[in-house]
Amino acid sequence: MKRSFPDTSMNRRSFVGGAAAGGLAGGVAVRLVSTEKHDAPELGSPAPPPQARLFTFSGGDGGPWSVVDSRAIVGEPLPAVRRLDIANSPTHTAPPGTVWSLRGVTSNARYITRAEKDDLVAKQAELGRTEATLAALIPIRKSAAWWSLPQDERRAIFEERSHHVKTGMKYLPAIARRLHHCRDLGTNESFDFLTFFDYARADAGAFDEMLAALRASEEWKYVDREVDIRLVRA
Ligand code: HEM
Repeated sequence: MKRSFPDTSMNRRSFVGGAAAGGLAGGVAVRLVSTEKHDAPELGSPAPPPQARLFTFSGGDGGPWSVVDSRAIVGEPLPAVRRLDIANSPTHTAPPGTVWSLRGVTSNARYITRAEKDDLVAKQAELGRTEATLAALIPIRKSAAWWSLPQDERRAIFEERSHHVKTGMKYLPAIARRLHHCRDLGTNESFDFLTFFDYARADAGAFDEMLAALRASEEWKYVDREVDIRLVRA
């Protein structure tokens, strides 16, 4: 059944019991910390230390998510893998059979206004709802031209001209999200951002519709590598 948007029929759910959908309960030894502690920094709550904000996405033979599709939207693809593991621990060791690992930390917001932040906090759902059996990991790199812009110009492109938050908000709470920053690690990572989303099967079409809108925006002219990895809970 196709759900119309905006949709306010879904309530916010607690993270408890839903952590598995974040990929954290597939028999892999990871330290669980509540989503509040990870999502909140972006929305202004006190940030936990960087090591507690570290997430590692490992593509290979293990983990609770099956990869159903992986394609490069722009730039180099990632090697094909069968499964995805997600760990939230600084002492994480990649599961056997890992082909690639991507790392990022949750962080503070850079662009949103007070009004946008209040809207997001009121409307967003947390990852790991039982019905959210589908997910997408979309690693993104932005060009040198983007990073050379001052903050005010990046904000103008991101929101005033591309309507990133305005577009995304229409799909909350059906789509839950977590943004990880790779540049904050200070190491030479393959991507600048790891974006992760989960949603119910009924919302798969809406997710694709949102992606198409974002990819058609001016902001995406600055994306020089993007890989779209679709997942189903194994
Ligand atoms: C589910 C709906 C979505 C909402 C509500 C949303 C909202 C946001 C917010 C609030 C930020 C942080 C702004 C800041 O730092 O102040 C952000 C950043 C970002 N989002 Fe989204 N987003 C959504 C969907 C997406 C999708 C589908 C993608 C990728 C395909 C995406 C990619 C990104 C990236 C790469 C950034 C970092 C931009 C930068 O700092 O240059 N978002 N988004």
